[in-house]
Amino acid sequence: MSYSAETATSITCPACGAQTHERVTICPTCGTDLTLLTILAEQKLFAHFSSREDRPPLSIELLVPRLGDYLVQRHYITAEQLQAALAFQSAQGGGPRARVGRTLVNMGALSEETLDQAIAEQILGLQRALLDANRELEKRVEARTAELEAALARLAEFNQLKANLVSNISHELRTPLTHIKGYNVLMRQGDLGPITDEQQAALGVTARSVARLEQLIDDLISFSAASKGELTLKLRPVNLGAILEQVINHSTAKAEQRQVRLIPQHSPELPLVLADEEKLLWTLLQLADNAIKFTPANGQVTVSATREDRWVRLAVQDTGIGIPPERHADIFEPFRQLDGSSTRRYGGTGLGLALVQRIVEAHGSAIKVESQAGSGSLFWFVLPRATAPLAA
Ligand SMILES: Nc1ncnc2c1ncn2[C@@H]1O[C@H](COP(=O)(O)OP(=O)(O)O)[C@@H](O)[C@H]1O
Ligand SMILES: [Mg+2]
Repeated sequence: MSYSAETATSITCPACGAQTHERVTICPTCGTDLTLLTILAEQKLFAHFSSREDRPPLSIELLVPRLGDYLVQRHYITAEQLQAALAFQSAQGGGPRARVGRTLVNMGALSEETLDQAIAEQILGLQRALLDANRELEKRVEARTAELEAALARLAEFNQLKANLVSNISHELRTPLTHIKGYNVLMRQGDLGPITDEQQAALGVTARSVARLEQLIDDLISFSAASKGELTLKLRPVNLGAILEQVINHSTAKAEQRQVRLIPQHSPELPLVLADEEKLLWTLLQLADNAIKFTPANGQVTVSATREDRWVRLAVQDTGIGIPPERHADIFEPFRQLDGSSTRRYGGTGLGLALVQRIVEAHGSAIKVESQAGSGSLFWFVLPRATAPLAA
């Protein structure tokens, strides 16, 4: 008798004893995972026998759970013959015992060939169940991967929508702001009639607030442009000495107001670097603004440009509140500020570093941060020299 799919149609669930189709990997009666159970049973059996002195000789029959039931169900033996074999086994008590199939052969109830046949059928059935389980698993992994890809595509779409929304709103905000600003200037100049000193002071405060709002809107527009991949650079050889001077000029008033010492530092004969001048200035201003903002009175902020082999290293270092290392990645996320209370205390939108990172990366470089909570921060990046030094 040879094995075929038609002849071997069912196996016995080792957990509940129910008959089930050999291709079924989960027992429909008790819900047991047959593949898993078989593997566990095998492991247990091997562990058990390999740790015993009186273990019976290793036999292929060890791999097949409940062989006796299977033999009865396939009519290779009768239920009585199985009972007799089991009774014989238990009568033997301790010491090495033959497996039930071997006992049946010894008793003359089963031929050697039929035992082999039955074991082969069972093993093939289990093997097929394992293959089916693997196939099922692969299908599930494929389905999950497709779901994840779809979710990722949706996320990209939402990001695009967000960038569009931010961009549209920012442009809409700019128009009324232009009017506010224009009339403010006219009033302060007295073009719309005489104004008192008090009114002049009030208009001054309004003008400063308008300037802040304008800066915020510009940041939002730059951010949405960068998010939409519209960050284009106008690369030219740039004189860093002049840029550093502008950074210091722009930031001095704020530093003085906060009693923070602002120190420019650069190597002599600084070479030109290849960069977008306007965006580079904006980047350094952002870093300086943060450094001053997060440094308490009597601290200091150093803005430096250091000549290196083929690069120039730009750095802004402060003696301020610092950033715990586990938050270093967070600070570059758009709209992310380290905590709610500091947001109110220090102001800002949380967009600065997100844009700084994009601009520096658009230059083919990377922004680095070195900082610990309470011991100041260092932000730095390198830019390539506009003309590489001649090889020696
Ligand atoms: N020099 C610094 N020292 C301490 N914390 C900083 C420094 N620079 C940035 N941070 C932290 O990173 C956050 C994000 O910075 P940024 O994107 O420039 O946003 P904003 O300045 O508008 O808060 C800040 O809110 C602050 O928590
Ligand atoms: Mg900032």
